[in-house]
Amino acid sequence: MKYGYFDDANREYVITTPRTPLPWINYLGSMEFFGLFSNTAGGYDFYKDAKLLRLTRYRYNNSPYDCGGRYYYIKDGDTVWNPGWQPVQTELDAYTCRHGMGYSVITGKKNDLEAELLAFVPISDNCEINRIKLTNLSSSKKEIDLFSYIEFCLWNAEDDSTNFQRNFSTGEVEVIGSTIYHKTEYRERRRHYAIYTVNKEVAGFDTSRDEFVGLYNGARNPQVVAEGKSHNSECHGWAPIGSHHLKVSLEPGASETFVFLLGYVENPKDQKFEAPNVVNKKPAIEMMSKYDTDAKVDKAFDDLKVYWDELLSKYTVNSEDEKLNRLVNIWNQYQCMITFNMSRSASYFESGMGRGMGFRDSCQDLLGFVHLVPERARERIIDIANTQFENGSTYHQYQPLTKRGNAAIGGGFNDDPLWLIACVCAYLRETGDFSILDEKCAFDNDESKATPLLDHLDRSFTYIATNLGPHALPLIGRADWNDCLNLNCFSEEPGESFQITGPSEGPVAESVFIAGLFVKYGKEYASLLSRIGKEDRAKEVTAEVDKMVAAVEDKGWDGEWFVRAYDAYSNPVGSKVCEEGQIYIEPQGMCVMAGIGVENGKAEKALKSVEEKLDTKFGITLLQPAYTKYHVELGEITSYPPGYKENAGIFCHNNPWIACAETVVGHGNRAFEVFKKTCPIYLEEISEIHRTEPYVYCQMVAGCDAPTFGEGKNSWLTGTAAWTFTAMSQYILGIQPTFDGLMVNPCIPSDNKGYKIKRTYRGCDYDIEIKNPNGVEKGVASMTVDGQAVDGNIIPIAKDKKQVSVVVTMG
Ligand code: GLC
Ligand code: GLC
Repeated sequence: MKYGYFDDANREYVITTPRTPLPWINYLGSMEFFGLFSNTAGGYDFYKDAKLLRLTRYRYNNSPYDCGGRYYYIKDGDTVWNPGWQPVQTELDAYTCRHGMGYSVITGKKNDLEAELLAFVPISDNCEINRIKLTNLSSSKKEIDLFSYIEFCLWNAEDDSTNFQRNFSTGEVEVIGSTIYHKTEYRERRRHYAIYTVNKEVAGFDTSRDEFVGLYNGARNPQVVAEGKSHNSECHGWAPIGSHHLKVSLEPGASETFVFLLGYVENPKDQKFEAPNVVNKKPAIEMMSKYDTDAKVDKAFDDLKVYWDELLSKYTVNSEDEKLNRLVNIWNQYQCMITFNMSRSASYFESGMGRGMGFRDSCQDLLGFVHLVPERARERIIDIANTQFENGSTYHQYQPLTKRGNAAIGGGFNDDPLWLIACVCAYLRETGDFSILDEKCAFDNDESKATPLLDHLDRSFTYIATNLGPHALPLIGRADWNDCLNLNCFSEEPGESFQITGPSEGPVAESVFIAGLFVKYGKEYASLLSRIGKEDRAKEVTAEVDKMVAAVEDKGWDGEWFVRAYDAYSNPVGSKVCEEGQIYIEPQGMCVMAGIGVENGKAEKALKSVEEKLDTKFGITLLQPAYTKYHVELGEITSYPPGYKENAGIFCHNNPWIACAETVVGHGNRAFEVFKKTCPIYLEEISEIHRTEPYVYCQMVAGCDAPTFGEGKNSWLTGTAAWTFTAMSQYILGIQPTFDGLMVNPCIPSDNKGYKIKRTYRGCDYDIEIKNPNGVEKGVASMTVDGQAVDGNIIPIAKDKKQVSVVVTMG
């Protein structure tokens, strides 16, 4: 069953009922100010950091799910309704929600009145614009009352939802004309405030929640709306809100628009006040004046469209598969940009109060957006590198506002350092900007210890190479990519963190996955070193990589697949000898991607085992058989009921690893099949089962052991976005950036007769046509560049050209 449809020409998903199985959301904002926006106008806004600088409140895990948002109440005679249905839930005569690139439009109709709500964050301003257009479609005049409503968060979202003994006394506002200034804590240590304004004269306002909503009513039936008149309340403590009352009189056929703006404003420390305890409003007034007419809003909205047109022109595919085009050209790259901005911090499932930016997460996300925003990727790399420790290990997370590592979690997740090599190499292959390697980066944010980025990469590599266990495989530490494989933690107390209990460094437990990662990115590191003339170091690195390959083939091979790990007693994990959890997905994907066993058949065998033992109709499960009891020596992974999350769920992030691995051994048919199974666009028809948004990936789909097999969870913020884009754009469609130019190396289904790619790369536009006349899965028979035959499959860097045409014939 579908709840809407794709409108590709406008790059929108159009939701046709507010009753989606879960809130189906969108993200507004591209730089520093962000809003989450659901199909019923729910969600929240923040500046830079969803924990520390939250503008509006949101109640997670509520019933109904989606409580809190920017709500507009329309009182038309006796009928009260919202354009997005919530929170009043008056049945609408018509409803659509269009989620587009950085904006959403909700249109509701009731009793011949149409309300269109356009929401977006201008490209480079710290505010969310909500433009409401009311149109009288009836044949008689309408007198309407329009009420707005948002609830302010007292900035620190965690404190806001816990520290009530203080927070019920701190709330403060000022109201001038149509503008509400939320200035809680401004009198002392803050120099920022929020504004909520509308570009028309108001009939009244409210800033006290209890006054507006009424003590016993709730947002579904606010007191003020029922009475049809604002109380002009000024809040002192308790819960500050922003509400405007507008009186609208519409002749038949007439429309009127209202521009609401929710903004974040900062003042210099010495210019905080214009009078004792009165905030300096200058920057707020400037911001408001930029959006106080329809024409100005139209212009800002056009700018946003141009921004996305430009971004999404950098890699496009034109194939016969409409769903594939839609995924690659629109939604997958869009989701990659969202993970760039959010990492795993703020969604409807990530509260934004927890982990900030993950080290490995951010490094992997970069693989999906480096071609879109290379300059910003460069900054991101440096921010990440600054949180490395001197010994090469890294903080596991950092806070986006302060950019400092999270001491509460610390380090000891031993895959983390290698992802730095992965993302720096991806950046270099994309841009050729080797100067980044000389960029000085701090250790643990201590600038006095800064060394060039290249040295950071070397420390990453060395940290793994010198922390090996009894089988000469890398020590796992607290966990590796699989955060829930906690082989050194032995947690038995409820409430303890599974991950950071116990010693961070067990001297025994090892990870075959990290070994595969080390081989893959060790090889890349060696080729980088050769490329910059450091042959001696390249040889040493290669020697370490070769040793690791030998260790994996020897102790990391179980006969038909790669072992997952060795636990703290040196017992294998993910082996036939185990009672549960005999085979895991991660080492099969990563070791084959690293090229291990490709020549001796182990790679093919491992992938065959994945197909036979882990595959389902909704994707590949993380492991089998699912753990049915808690194994204290394995940790959190065995805490989940069978089929959920890391315990045999279909963890979407590592399905594309298998797709990539299949292309390494030349299986284009299978690679595409793996891709399709978890791709939300191909699952749109079963949205009632899958439940999450059909336009973006979710983190996890319940596996075959779960009673809710096929149900998606935790949409939006997942490494699946970046890895699917990598798998599809580079490994399947086969346009691979190298240090020295684009390589064309497709691996596709045999019935794919060809496709075209447009790719902007180092300042030049490449038009690449792939032909597959003989229906092969892999292999390039010939290539011409601007009509000239070229040997091999690397397109030489176009030095003085802006446009290059390439024709590739497979065979
Ligand atoms: C979550 C984490 C990610 C981890 C994965 C598997 O998505 O953000 O870092 O790799 O779970 O445990
Ligand atoms: C939990 C989740 C895992 C996530 C981790 C982040 O362990 O199962 O997916 O990566 O939390 O801390």
